Amino acid sequence: MCGIVGYIGNKSAVKPVLSGLKALEYRGYDSAGISFISKDKPLTIKQVGRVEALEEELAEQGTITANLAIGHTRWATHGSPSILNAHPHQNTDETIFVVHNGIIENYQVIRSRLQKFGYKFVSETDTEVIPHLIDYYLIEGVSQETQASGVQGTDEERKEAVPISTVTANRSSKRSNLGASAGRVLGSARKQAGTVSFLEAFEAALKDLVGAYAIGAVYAKEPGKIYVARLSSPLVIGVGVHENFLASDPTAIMEHTKKVIYLNDYEVAEISADDVKIHDIQKAIAVHREHEELDFDQEKAVLGDYPHFMLKEIFEAPQTIQSATRGRLRADTNTVKLGGLESVDQQLKYIDRIVIVACGTSYYAGLVGEYLIEELAGIPVEVQLASEFKYRNEPFSRSTALLAISQSGETADTIAAIKKVEGYGVLRLGIVNTVGSTIARMTDAGVYCHAGPEQSVASTKAFIAQVTVLAEIALHLSQGRTRLYKPLLQELLKLPEKAKEILEHTEEIEILAKKYSGYRDFLYLGRNYSYPCALEGALKLKEISYIHAEGFAAGEMKHGPLAMIDQDFPTFAIACKSPLLEKTLSNIEEIKARKGPVLVIATKGDKQIKKLISDVIYIPDTLEQLQPLLIAIVLQLFSYYVAVEKNLNVDRPRNLAKSVTVE
Ligand code: AGP
Repeated sequence: MCGIVGYIGNKSAVKPVLSGLKALEYRGYDSAGISFISKDKPLTIKQVGRVEALEEELAEQGTITANLAIGHTRWATHGSPSILNAHPHQNTDETIFVVHNGIIENYQVIRSRLQKFGYKFVSETDTEVIPHLIDYYLIEGVSQETQASGVQGTDEERKEAVPISTVTANRSSKRSNLGASAGRVLGSARKQAGTVSFLEAFEAALKDLVGAYAIGAVYAKEPGKIYVARLSSPLVIGVGVHENFLASDPTAIMEHTKKVIYLNDYEVAEISADDVKIHDIQKAIAVHREHEELDFDQEKAVLGDYPHFMLKEIFEAPQTIQSATRGRLRADTNTVKLGGLESVDQQLKYIDRIVIVACGTSYYAGLVGEYLIEELAGIPVEVQLASEFKYRNEPFSRSTALLAISQSGETADTIAAIKKVEGYGVLRLGIVNTVGSTIARMTDAGVYCHAGPEQSVASTKAFIAQVTVLAEIALHLSQGRTRLYKPLLQELLKLPEKAKEILEHTEEIEILAKKYSGYRDFLYLGRNYSYPCALEGALKLKEISYIHAEGFAAGEMKHGPLAMIDQDFPTFAIACKSPLLEKTLSNIEEIKARKGPVLVIATKGDKQIKKLISDVIYIPDTLEQLQPLLIAIVLQLFSYYVAVEKNLNVDRPRNLAKSVTVE
């Protein structure tokens, strides 16, 4: 997704904005730009490709004294990656500069109406309407109605929102609106700047926008302020000493400050070097919000001596499990303490159905959670893709709980799923990694993953943390009334050591990855707890090696997938210790009989499998319910080494973004 960074303070804006953009590179982008505002003429630089290209262009500009700047990494939605489409976008007078993350759904309507007033557009983007719209209101003024209308009204009404531009009371002029046929001529016909403030014009423009936005805007005539606004797209303000920061997520500013303020929907902030003024434009009230302390350690977000963030984050699995259990599982008293659920513990006692909503890897973690919660706590669980859930018409009762799982806490589909049940009386819980993220703040209660920042687009340690937390929630909900309670709690505390054992012997996995990296198709098979692992393993391979890979329940082979098998179609079978192992071995036999190459994950000590298959990766013995934590590490490493063998951009795979903040 796009990334936004801003700086206002008593130092040069160059370094903090450049380093912030680099910190956001993991989100995926194809162009970047920065606008610098100082008492001199504003300077905007844009480049297609990497942030380094901006750095090189800046070096050619000589010393830049600006202490106000906004920057942007663009992940193309409307319009191809190009310098003209890169942000910041500006008005014709080059006095207003805007960066934006999100989508303006009604930008065509606004664009065509502004063009009738003589506004000229240079890009294909939706974002470019914003600086021109602010310019329009600065010149034409803003009516009391517009100010009073707030952002109420149905989406349909707002989709047709026609900015009303009657001028303020103390100016005589005709009532006009962007729908008027009368074209406005730029240049000599332009009126002197309006009597409204930039903030008023900014807010009037926001009220015309339909869609999702995180916006940073600067005005050349006010070189001491950044104006920001948020609607359904993340935005965080970093609070420094005589300096303040703006970013799409905390990783871009945490080297400067750990004091952050998260904006909520419909909030606008006026940021200067020593002040942050927030108000809610829907309720038309000032907002007083204390800053929060970031819990991410800067060093955790730094690559260290790993070649890729993905490998670093896979190798963090042992401490990820420890961080997710620390202070929560007590081996001596066999207790589980989930502080984040304490406020809803009474309600949890009456929950008779849990609907898990998530996307991608988080969805597959949810599938493991389904098995865990049903087996340990005896509560029916249904896992739904958030993108499907939000459009379904299904019954809910007040004894249903919704459990949203998200690493970023900003996934638009998952946010929409939570919004859908607002007012239903459904308990909304979250399992989130990013502290203070939107989902963390939308839900009634939840459990943080504490896995630290996950930079690689491919989610690895987040899956490990999510499954660990799901196991803890299952134990908590079981209230100790399952024979598995103590063994699973004790075993979970031993998992970091077992994870370490896998990570100390990755050469076998690397060898097999190289051997199988040339295939064009892959089938992943699993049963019961390892079925979600097969789905997740297939996703990992797909998303970083671009090889077509499908995960299937092993029992489904005869119902279709077997037809695909031949010597060019390998299968990755998960055949770990389980009451169902024999059945999976027969699947393997069927595949072998059709000359399908097979590699297997098995449990250490299994004497049978080697008689059948030569390419075997062993995991340490553990309870079947916790095998996904170890299987996942193997599958993540396998995909990683395949992608490295194919010399692909492991941390930033093509077409993908880390945080999918648009639907
Ligand atoms: C997984 O490797 C992908 N990066 C993607 O499927 C991701 O899991 C999904 O977009 C959900 O993200 P979230 O956990 O931040 O909500």
